Amino acid sequence: MTTKDLELTSETIVAFIGDIFNRRGADSYLGEQVTMSQHMLQGAFFAEQSGAKDELIAAALLHDIGHYTNEFPEDALEKGVNNYHDTAGAAVLAPFFPRVVTDCVRHHVGAKRYLCATDPSYFARLSEASVHSLELQGGPMSDTEVEVFRQNPNLDDILQVRFWDEDGKDPSLETPPFEHYAPVLQRVVDRFAIKT
Ligand SMILES: [Fe+2]
Repeated sequence: MTTKDLELTSETIVAFIGDIFNRRGADSYLGEQVTMSQHMLQGAFFAEQSGAKDELIAAALLHDIGHYTNEFPEDALEKGVNNYHDTAGAAVLAPFFPRVVTDCVRHHVGAKRYLCATDPSYFARLSEASVHSLELQGGPMSDTEVEVFRQNPNLDDILQVRFWDEDGKDPSLETPPFEHYAPVLQRVVDRFAIKT
């Protein structure tokens, strides 16, 4: 039995995600100088360095997991989710992680569009690849979209995870491996499992 055949539970989900990092992490990250796992680990690294709570370290680590939803069992996506990696990532995490984590994952593309519309200095932080994908993602938000986005109770956390997303594109930065963050993920999963 491979990890891919594991039934996903709060006991198996962290190892399952770790297996994705180990097998697929070397994939390139859409025109950036870092691999997918470097990018996500760097996000978690910056979150941890800044003393962020476990949930935000988890969100930074997993924000792009939606690029790997084909690794998850088919029923993980059965709730009519489209192929966009932000919403797909949130959908596969939702059974195991609290809303603050899934909100940060679901809205990390929206956060870029929001910040481009509301913060003139933000656009300068975007990488070349991220400027290109901004166009494909709909460009800066309209005033109406900004108003709706602002209502999210997790707005500050969503924006913070987006800033770590921007920072996590440095090919020379070494980070601890996935295993360093696995206990953080497990704490978040366990706390959520107790509540549900
Ligand atoms: Fe990212």
